[in-house]
Amino acid sequence: MSDQNRKIPKHIAIIMDGNGRWAKQRLQPRFMGHRAGVKAVEGIVKRCAQLGVEVLSLFAFSSENWRRPGKEVSLLMELFSHALNNQVKKLHDNNIKLQIVGDISGFSASLQKQIKQAHELTQHNTGLILNIAANYGGRWDITQSVRQLAEQVARGELAAEDISEEMINNHLTTAALPEPDLFIRTGGEQRVSNFLLWQMAYTEFYFTDVLWPEFDSGQLNKAIDSFSCRERRFGRTSEQLQDDSDA
Ligand code: IPE
Ligand code: IPE
Ligand code: MG
Repeated sequence: MSDQNRKIPKHIAIIMDGNGRWAKQRLQPRFMGHRAGVKAVEGIVKRCAQLGVEVLSLFAFSSENWRRPGKEVSLLMELFSHALNNQVKKLHDNNIKLQIVGDISGFSASLQKQIKQAHELTQHNTGLILNIAANYGGRWDITQSVRQLAEQVARGELAAEDISEEMINNHLTTAALPEPDLFIRTGGEQRVSNFLLWQMAYTEFYFTDVLWPEFDSGQLNKAIDSFSCRERRFGRTSEQLQDDSDA
């Protein structure tokens, strides 16, 4: 499919999985896979910006990933910090807005500071929004949203019966973003692993066995081609959609 025939998703969300297995295949430590994974991120960010994707959400570290061996966790934190150091200026020069969603308070003070600085530097940029989910869990996000509403109820500012889906949505960490149109998971696993649970109610899912360090623009094109061929009905019938497009 040529770029003109592709339907470009406004928001692509990716679970970048398979770094460990990629390294293992090469008889290298898992960490080398994570390093190669950062390289793959660079390529995909560039391609998304070029295609005019509005938001790219990447799952970098889940709230469950703390369960990994301590050594791997600390190497991942170091890598995150390095990547911010090396990439933020480049992202800024390319008009990319970087935001990190997740429970930032779980990170070291210096990493929190880096995250804040990256956010401040790039927040007025008008190009691609690069949304990195770090110490993120879909259940955590829904819980913290509902907690904010519960506090409003406790203060007498909101009646419980007035709580709506829209309000829950507006207190999620992704409130300002459109919902993901296309979800991609590399590495062969077919599950959501507590990623954007609420937000992906109507997202199109695409799974590939390709390991994340090998996911390049050709692979992204394949995912977008698959997305371009789908009919998104949102509960309606195919005929209704045809009638609407004829009108
Ligand atoms: C994904 O790759 C990266 C993170 C979770 C940080 P994995 O590390 O899960 O790689 P596999 O699944 O073990 O191959
Ligand atoms: C999901 O990958 C989280 C990230 C990619 C950051 P995992 O490899 O941790 O997922 P599970 O636990 O195998 O489902
Ligand atoms: Mg994995």
